[in-house]
Amino acid sequence: MKIFFIIIFFLLRSCVGGANDTIMRRQSLRDGDVIVSEGKRFAFGYFSPGNSKLRYVGVWYAQMNKQTVVWVANRDHPINDTSGHIKFNSGGNLCVYASANETELIWSTNVSDRILEPSLVVARVSDSGNLVLLDPVTGRVFWESFDHPTDTFLPFMRLGFTRKDGLDRFLTSWRSPDDPGSGNYTLRLERRGFPQTMMYNGLTPLWRGGTWTGQRWSGVPEKTLKSIFNISFVNNQDEVSNTYGVLDASVVTRLVLSEAGILQRFTWNGREKRWIGLRPNPQEQCDDYAYCGPNGYCDPLSRDTFECICLPGYKPKAPGDWKLRDPSGGCTRRDTTSVCRGREGFVKLKRVKIPNTSAASVDMNVTLKECEVTCLRNCSCVAYASAYYESEGGPRGCLTWHGDMLDTRTYSSSGQDLFVRVDKAELERWNRNGSSRKRRLFLILISLILAVMLLMVIFLCFVRKRQKSKRHKRSSKTFAPSYIDFGESLRFEELQDKARNRELPLFELTTIAAATDEFSFQNKLGEGGFGSVYKGVLENGMEIAVKRLSKNSGQGVVEFKNEVKLISKLQHRNLVRILGCCVELDEKMVIYEYLPNKSLDYFIFHEEQRAMLDWPTRIDIIRGIARGILYLHHDSRLRIIHRDLKASNILLDNEMIPKIADFGMARIFGGNQIEGSTNRVVGTYGYMSPEYAMDGQFSIKSDVYSFGVLILEIITGKKNSGFKDKFSNLFGHVWDRWEKGEVTEIIDKSMDAETYDESEVMKCIHIGLLCVQEIVSDRPDMPTVVLMLGHNAIDLPSPKHPAFMTRKRRESNDGGSSSGVWLSGENGISVNDVTLTSVYGR
Ligand SMILES: *[C@@H]1O[C@H](CO)[C@@H](O)[C@H](O)[C@H]1NC(C)=O
Ligand SMILES: *[C@@H]1O[C@H](CO)[C@@H](O)[C@H](O)[C@H]1NC(C)=O
Ligand SMILES: *[C@@H]1O[C@H](CO)[C@@H](O)[C@H](O)[C@H]1NC(C)=O
Ligand SMILES: *[C@@H]1O[C@H](CO)[C@@H](O)[C@H](O)[C@H]1NC(C)=O
Ligand SMILES: *[C@@H]1O[C@H](CO)[C@@H](O)[C@H](O)[C@H]1NC(C)=O
Ligand SMILES: *[C@@H]1O[C@H](CO)[C@@H](O)[C@H](O)[C@H]1NC(C)=O
Ligand SMILES: *[C@@H]1O[C@H](CO)[C@@H](O)[C@H](O)[C@H]1NC(C)=O
Ligand SMILES: *[C@@H]1O[C@H](CO)[C@@H](O)[C@H](O)[C@H]1NC(C)=O
Ligand SMILES: *[C@@H]1O[C@H](CO)[C@@H](O)[C@H](O)[C@H]1NC(C)=O
Repeated sequence: MKIFFIIIFFLLRSCVGGANDTIMRRQSLRDGDVIVSEGKRFAFGYFSPGNSKLRYVGVWYAQMNKQTVVWVANRDHPINDTSGHIKFNSGGNLCVYASANETELIWSTNVSDRILEPSLVVARVSDSGNLVLLDPVTGRVFWESFDHPTDTFLPFMRLGFTRKDGLDRFLTSWRSPDDPGSGNYTLRLERRGFPQTMMYNGLTPLWRGGTWTGQRWSGVPEKTLKSIFNISFVNNQDEVSNTYGVLDASVVTRLVLSEAGILQRFTWNGREKRWIGLRPNPQEQCDDYAYCGPNGYCDPLSRDTFECICLPGYKPKAPGDWKLRDPSGGCTRRDTTSVCRGREGFVKLKRVKIPNTSAASVDMNVTLKECEVTCLRNCSCVAYASAYYESEGGPRGCLTWHGDMLDTRTYSSSGQDLFVRVDKAELERWNRNGSSRKRRLFLILISLILAVMLLMVIFLCFVRKRQKSKRHKRSSKTFAPSYIDFGESLRFEELQDKARNRELPLFELTTIAAATDEFSFQNKLGEGGFGSVYKGVLENGMEIAVKRLSKNSGQGVVEFKNEVKLISKLQHRNLVRILGCCVELDEKMVIYEYLPNKSLDYFIFHEEQRAMLDWPTRIDIIRGIARGILYLHHDSRLRIIHRDLKASNILLDNEMIPKIADFGMARIFGGNQIEGSTNRVVGTYGYMSPEYAMDGQFSIKSDVYSFGVLILEIITGKKNSGFKDKFSNLFGHVWDRWEKGEVTEIIDKSMDAETYDESEVMKCIHIGLLCVQEIVSDRPDMPTVVLMLGHNAIDLPSPKHPAFMTRKRRESNDGGSSSGVWLSGENGISVNDVTLTSVYGR
């Protein structure tokens, strides 16, 4: 309001016909004066960031409750008091002075030599947030703030360099939230070799955004959302630059290099009046620059315990360090004598972030085939890849490497092909591996096709027979087990025997159908995002739980079996045991041990049952779940993200030991699982972290979030999703009490206060709040959580505002707030995919 009056006052004072968004030649802006862009999107004036008392001049969003600054003029030269003046000097430059008498220059646009007629220059703030010095008559621009970015990359801004006049536009972080001074982190387009984006701390490379592949940056695995953003990358004789536009003008978005060296996109949610942060970069260990050393590559899905692997034809330089998980020494050629001895070839690595291109040679005008020839002819060439992808024409251009290859990693679902040169022996080894794998796959495929054909024949015979006899029989809508004809299916069993994998028990469909009474409704235990669960009893009396995956699982039979086989090897006291699987026709099922004692939700969300859980039992359950998740995330060989942790997925055995069910489902179910982005959001309202629910971004931290919800539910005895209060979810309520220091009020009343130590319960609530924090990186990881739960002496950081995720917001699918360029994914979330409500184990 105050600012408003000041503006009006200022206008009246200087009313010589100019618009509000313009500083005229003879105007002078004093501290407190603000000019606002035409559409009232951005404002320009004086501000003090955070707790600072110093005055800065800059541009911020005009209409937000909390000031968000996007550009600072005098970032390294603050004004000590409110006596600053902004005005034009005689040369036509816009200047900031420390006082009215123009002796102390703080900052200047400094382009005098380009301004021919200083009296005609004005400064204007545009609706894109650009402060422009221009001649209002001809529209000629002399200077613009977009050419001098600070820490924020706005739409229509340009990052990169010009080849002639030496202009280099790059981001430099603030020093701290209180100090916009030039910080240590920069993000820039690298000149050397083939241009790529790099993030530095001082001169040390931290993260490589990589090269522009025509569709995305090689270091950012997600595709961009083409319906909202158009990104363009220019690389010609004049300049190398990157810019992006927003097609929907209502989307308010910015990409910021934070003072902590994190590059993150934020999108404004107008309804809740806050910024939503999307996937930050760098994100995981494999993103750290050259983490695996020269000639090594990082595979976060590595089935070994260590994510660093040597490129084909290379071996660890210091095998001892490698064993101790110190990959910094990198890898060296296995056999140095064999290079360029003829009959060499290339091994193709798929889904790769290609190595550092600063020393790579480029030829944009050749095909991949020609590239191979070029590389093979040149003895120093160690690898090649295509330089970019044309949207229709496929890979084009040629990049070749001639020395050590740095900072290579793989992705689960994006990335390019990298062809690494190897000698004859190595090539034979790789071909052998590859072809034998292919042969095996082929054999399995053939036998499966035969099996399916046979089944169809049997099925048709049976149907005909049935039609003849017109015997009436109870029929099931979802499942017609017509082929359960034991005589006929004998031959089928033989076939199955051949394809059977000895390691993983493969159950017959007939067996499972019999055990579950043909998947009868009475035997149905519940339904989840991945399918339904049935109880069954095998002939020998053993009780089983059968997860029948829904049909659209998108995964092939072989992959399915492989995944189940891998996951069935995970064994932990706090995980439900997998007994085997069943794949027939288009059915895919996973068979688990059956636990009679119901699931956690049965206990904590029901009045009487809840009273049975005293505090020692509850804390044991919490710790058990934590250990189970820890095993999935860190200790098992597979690094599994559960993605659907919830009370009904925690089963309790006779001794009330918690056992996590449904783990590995995401992997079994197929799709791009472990790496953080998915088209298909499966999960349960109330347990899904906001970044997962809204953007499909998942990581071990989204499981941590769900675990936090579980802790709070176990302590309060209340469901997060169904919580009715002015806060609309449980931790809004918990947080409110926490801030007021009344948090003991939320502890479940049915728990006898005698049985617990209040400080211990408080600590658990504290940990729960840490886990549901809004910012992904603030949430602790599971080793830390387990440590915190186990030791009373540890000091916990104070929790920040939790993410309030309400069902309402999720359903109304907020326009652009959930998507981004560069640092976010194309995850068209369809609400229909999110179903799960009911229970496993009831
Ligand atoms: C300046 O802004 C105020 C308030 O937005 C408006 O009333 C006034 O007409 C504007 N003046 C000019 C010259 O555009
Ligand atoms: C601000 O104050 C410091 C010390 O008090 C002084 O060194 C500096 O020159 C002042 N800067 C301005 C712009 O007045
Ligand atoms: C102008 O600047 C000079 C030197 O910096 C200072 O001594 C003087 O007091 C200032 N004059 C006014 C009117 O502020
Ligand atoms: C203005 O730019 C010139 C070079 O273009 C530089 O030497 C000078 O220091 C700059 N002045 C200011 C006040 O930034
Ligand atoms: C920047 O780096 C220097 C030297 O490494 C260090 O002393 C300083 O604390 C860093 N500044 C910030 C804001 O991190
Ligand atoms: C985005 O597309 C629009 C039109 O479709 C175009 O006007 C605009 O210049 C483009 N922006 C960028 C950054 O490519
Ligand atoms: C990329 O690799 C080359 C050597 O191949 C090295 O000289 C250069 O410093 C690397 N680039 C960066 C940014 O580290
Ligand atoms: C690319 O190759 C084609 C034909 O091979 C040639 O006509 C064209 O001039 C080349 N372009 C460049 C930039 O070298
Ligand atoms: C091999 O490639 C490098 C880098 O492009 C080049 O400097 C060298 O001359 C080439 N050697 C031969 C024999 O062509």
